[in-house]
Amino acid sequence: MTKRVAILISGGGSNMVSLVDSMTGDHPARACLVVANAADAGGLAKAQARGVQTAVVDHRPFGKDRASFENALHASLVMAKPDIICLAGFMRILTPDFITMWEGRMLNIHPSLLPLYKGLHTHARALDAGDAQHGCTVHEVTAELDGGPILGQARVDIASDDTPDTLAAKVLPLEHQLYPAVLRRFATGDRSRIDL
Ligand code: GRF
Repeated sequence: MTKRVAILISGGGSNMVSLVDSMTGDHPARACLVVANAADAGGLAKAQARGVQTAVVDHRPFGKDRASFENALHASLVMAKPDIICLAGFMRILTPDFITMWEGRMLNIHPSLLPLYKGLHTHARALDAGDAQHGCTVHEVTAELDGGPILGQARVDIASDDTPDTLAAKVLPLEHQLYPAVLRRFATGDRSRIDL
């Protein structure tokens, strides 16, 4: 039975595009919805161009009322009946209440070799630390921010003249390879780890 995948975005959605474009042929899943937390998210047009249903749940009208925002987000999601949720450049921190409703079925991609550099500014932090390698991680989403079981990692050597921007430019294509590979395996029920 084909798994239904909802993808949450906040911006350009390059990871969402990679995921949607990977779900073809004998792939066990198909995209059923792309939700953005901002109407001006560039990824919305890319999803629509690929024939994927989209929705916007803008977090700003809810102010600090995270619960109401997440109730609206949940309502938008359940209508699409997803089996799996992929966070892809989604920049809102989700509360444990929301995560509990989807735990075991929600994935995220983070631009670092977790458990290193949870949170923001990961490329600058890897450079500041003088690390020899950097990369990205796909993990199951749990209540611990960027802390769930790791399903895959891809790594790249850091060059002496790398900047946060050049490093991000090295990592993003790896994200576009790793996330679809992990999703394809996860959609078969296989949670074994992928390393690229
Ligand atoms: C990527 O670096 C991703 O790792 C992070 O958000 C950035 C933009 O992602 N989560 P996208 O282009 O919107 O998919």
